[in-house]
Amino acid sequence: MRIGVLTGGGDCPGLNAVIRAVVRKGVEVHGWDVLGFRNGWRGPLEGLTKQLGLDEVEDILTRGGTILGSSRTNPYRVEGGVDKLKAVLAEHGVDALVAIGGEDTLGVAKRLNEDGVPVVGVPKTIDNDLGATDYTFGFDTAVHIATEAIDRLRTTAESHHRALVIEVMGRHAGWIALHSGVAGGANVILVPERPFSVDKVVQWVRRRFERQYAPIIVVAEGAVPDGGTEMLHSGEKDAFGHVRLGGVGTWLAEEIAERTGKESRAVVLGHVQRGGTPTAYDRVLATRFGLHAVDAVHDGDFGVMVALRGTDIVRVRLAEATSALKTVPLERYAEAEVFFG
Ligand code: F6P
Repeated sequence: MRIGVLTGGGDCPGLNAVIRAVVRKGVEVHGWDVLGFRNGWRGPLEGLTKQLGLDEVEDILTRGGTILGSSRTNPYRVEGGVDKLKAVLAEHGVDALVAIGGEDTLGVAKRLNEDGVPVVGVPKTIDNDLGATDYTFGFDTAVHIATEAIDRLRTTAESHHRALVIEVMGRHAGWIALHSGVAGGANVILVPERPFSVDKVVQWVRRRFERQYAPIIVVAEGAVPDGGTEMLHSGEKDAFGHVRLGGVGTWLAEEIAERTGKESRAVVLGHVQRGGTPTAYDRVLATRFGLHAVDAVHDGDFGVMVALRGTDIVRVRLAEATSALKTVPLERYAEAEVFFG
């Protein structure tokens, strides 16, 4: 048996741990041949491959990024894309695919499976916004990085009596903002799920200054002021129709400075949240996902995604996993509001 593996969408710490687990179990337990496809769905579209044996996955457990490369290619947006992809899989004798990705990559996996390609999905995204799994790998690492940044920014904010606005990733879901904000003791946390009032933010900031503290505001890139719209870095859309967000942190810092007369700075954490070595939690989760994906292939159980439920790894239909984004419930956000101001 020969299986293909690919990583699609934004990279995320832990991808290499999944690849390693798939290869180790596929080769050592089942005697399979594992073929990597490079650069997301571009790999099986254009025949970009990398043979994956035990040597290739040595020493990659702790490494960030993906040894296979990634892209946001969508074969359903390419003329004759699905037929090309099927031809490449047939040419390389690939019997099944393990697709590691977020909502877009797994949305393609679901459609391909319906179109006759045997696929098993593995959920990754630092955003933690995939439905049907309690957590995706990469999220824990991103939260650690953001929390460490908040801790560091707090001391400089206090020295200079400034407000510091920290913009974190999260287009539609504020999980990174919520978790890093709570862990870092932020005075205001703003998420895409709940439009915010600038007046209220300014009130909280003032209160914090009155108590001789420097306010820390954590804002998700997709957060929106009341009656406003998402702030765009550029209007350009990727193959899945996503625009690049960015700018809300800087805008808010300027509003705060203007309205309070206090110095205010914005820091955009950006891709630093996705880079570098995964946390121990993400290494373990990613490894378990990889091992269970191999089990699903071995059982011939296709059109599924491996998922974390409590402490168990289960299988859910890709259709269920990609039907709706998992956003922050308002009651979870309300828990954090106790600490605002
Ligand atoms: O989906 C993961 C993510 O990191 C989002 O949080 C962010 O909006 C987006 O990817 C950034 O994408 P790119 O790497 O294409 O700039």
